[in-house]
Amino acid sequence: MTASAENYTELQEEIRDLARRKNAVILAHNYQFPEIQDVADITGDSLGLSIEASKTDAAIIVFCGVHFMAESAKLLSPQKKVLLPNLAAGCSLADSITPESLEEWKQRYPGRKVVTYINSTAAVKAVSDICCTSANAVSVVRSLGDAPVLFTPDRNLGRWTAEQLPGSDIVIYDGCCSVHDILRGANVRKTRDRYPGCVIIAHPECREDIIAIADEVCSTTAMLERVAKYPQAKTFLIATENGMLHQLKKRYPDKEFIMADGCIGCRLNCPYMKCITLEHLKRSLEEEIHEIDVDPEVAEGARRSLERMLAVPRDS
Ligand code: 13P
Ligand code: SF4
Repeated sequence: MTASAENYTELQEEIRDLARRKNAVILAHNYQFPEIQDVADITGDSLGLSIEASKTDAAIIVFCGVHFMAESAKLLSPQKKVLLPNLAAGCSLADSITPESLEEWKQRYPGRKVVTYINSTAAVKAVSDICCTSANAVSVVRSLGDAPVLFTPDRNLGRWTAEQLPGSDIVIYDGCCSVHDILRGANVRKTRDRYPGCVIIAHPECREDIIAIADEVCSTTAMLERVAKYPQAKTFLIATENGMLHQLKKRYPDKEFIMADGCIGCRLNCPYMKCITLEHLKRSLEEEIHEIDVDPEVAEGARRSLERMLAVPRDS
């Protein structure tokens, strides 16, 4: 059961009190429910949250996000206890590849450097050469020079990355995010026609026909910065998961943010992100559940892929 609006404050206070007593840091991805984002110590994208949490002296990290994100937090903070408030928080994109299916692709396309999007399990990262995020995919592939690449698992991010690097030799795995991939260009064009002069900001997990009409293509954290590039614009169409609107509205109260599909919370709603409630978060802190651990052998390989990525200079 979801808490009612009246007792959010009380519940949030209880959560803050628990976090203080247990020396826990609460992280919330930009796609979480607003009330979860508001009770968190840090909001942001998956990698940014894990990096920030690793810099704190907290004993416990509670990751209000999805399973692969909690794994990344554990990889970067092996000595901290990492909790995921609801184990049902998986990810359709991470589930679209396994170490076995990646092995098949590697055999089909031998000799390629495997670049794996951070939205993947630690086990898949462990059998990849290097990770990337939606913010640094182009820099990561560029850092590999002329090496042929096998890009996994997101076909939309892979295609967009290849387009930014003409002449690159990139084979793209056939995975996708069920939330972003459902959106169609025709739908966004129809919404755009209702808001003359609007700016379209899309996540690179969107399909090609949306990317083609987007003014900006970027990660969730970058979306918060890109709005400032358009001081004259009043309305922004956001082509990503609807939780993103919360931080955008908080940072730019004078702007109007509309979901690119034209309806609030209808299609662009991640069921995995949204399976965490304040009640789950409170119980997770109280009982210190559900702890996320990564097998030491897997962790070694996955950390190596993450660290290689972190050594690549950031996109300008
Ligand atoms: P970001 O890394 O851009 O926050 O995206 C995470 C995600 O799950 C996209 O669907
Ligand atoms: Fe995974 Fe897509 Fe949900 Fe992001 S929005 S967590 S990629 S299912």
